[in-house]
Amino acid sequence: MTVEYDVQAAQKGGYDTFMEKEMHEQPYVLSETLRGRISGEDVIFPELGFLDMKDMKAVYFIACGTAWHAGLYAQYLFRTWIPVPCFCIPASEFRYGHYPLGPDTLCIFVSQSGETADTLAALKEAKKAGAPCVSITNVLGSSLARQSDAALYTCAGPEIAVASTKAYTTQLVLLAAMVLKLADLYGADVPDRTRFLQDLAHMPEAAQKMLDMETPEISHAADSLTNLRDAYFIGRQLDYVSVLEGALKLKEISYIHADAYYAGELKHGPIALIEEGTVVIALATQPEVAGKTISNIQETMARGADVTLITGPSETADGFSQVLRIPDVHPHLAVIPVTILLQKLAFEAAVNKGCDVDKPRNLAKSVTVE
Ligand code: AGP
Repeated sequence: MTVEYDVQAAQKGGYDTFMEKEMHEQPYVLSETLRGRISGEDVIFPELGFLDMKDMKAVYFIACGTAWHAGLYAQYLFRTWIPVPCFCIPASEFRYGHYPLGPDTLCIFVSQSGETADTLAALKEAKKAGAPCVSITNVLGSSLARQSDAALYTCAGPEIAVASTKAYTTQLVLLAAMVLKLADLYGADVPDRTRFLQDLAHMPEAAQKMLDMETPEISHAADSLTNLRDAYFIGRQLDYVSVLEGALKLKEISYIHADAYYAGELKHGPIALIEEGTVVIALATQPEVAGKTISNIQETMARGADVTLITGPSETADGFSQVLRIPDVHPHLAVIPVTILLQKLAFEAAVNKGCDVDKPRNLAKSVTVE
């Protein structure tokens, strides 16, 4: 008897694509990445023992692509909690940007592969200036990890699909815990710390909820996009980080042109692009600015936009026909469930269009040229 055996199919673990498999691995890899990092009220990062946060005059997060979005998230948390100037810069810009560097500027590099040429070049510059360098990578012993003063690891496991999914969300949870540790090392008082930490520990469950959620609203947006060329993603504050990543994911795998805008910037130009049937994915998960975002969204609806609103469990959404609600999590963590919804949207749109989601054209998993 001959048994047919397809190695690739076996590696996909019952899914048709690596991307879908990797999206579904998120609850597990999030808990693996957080394993040993939270103990009661404490965050555990022995790797950072060498740092004197009080001496730092500035902090840089440096990365490319999706990892840069993770850095933007960390920048937001850092600025909210710690009164030290903090900047997140794309690695390809960092070395030409004349940023002050020295032993009192902490540089934190984020990279799934740990082999991205621009990120490695930025690390070289930082080291030359004597800056303390910390790396976050997903690959044990990667070049970035080996050359840094401290190496932290996400535990996403191998990510085969070119478009990053689980590597990104593991970066988000690790950065959330790490920035909290930096706040502790600095002696900063973090408001709502207990809730943040408790909700962080429960991110694997929140991720599972998003994966299990039936999302006819996402299918509606994905279906509408099948015959359209453009999509617009809007949000304020932390929601802006999520819209950048949502738009990048859609572009990468479906080849639909997708732009991400600060919701408040729409009226300064981009609103000219909104017409009858334009697809707008609008995020309003941050209570402090949700009301303002909602009025920006209404401006797009008045011009005929087909809006899908993603918001928290208790925000009012009168007048919206397509609303998706994320679970009740600390607003600083909303980015994780929202990202999973936006991964679903990109995936569905790409599958509808018959695209190869695992190997999008023109893209490499690790970019080793500058
Ligand atoms: C993510 O979907 C992309 N394929 C890409 O932006 C990627 O995040 C970027 O090239 C950085 O890679 P790295 O994390 O391995 O450094």
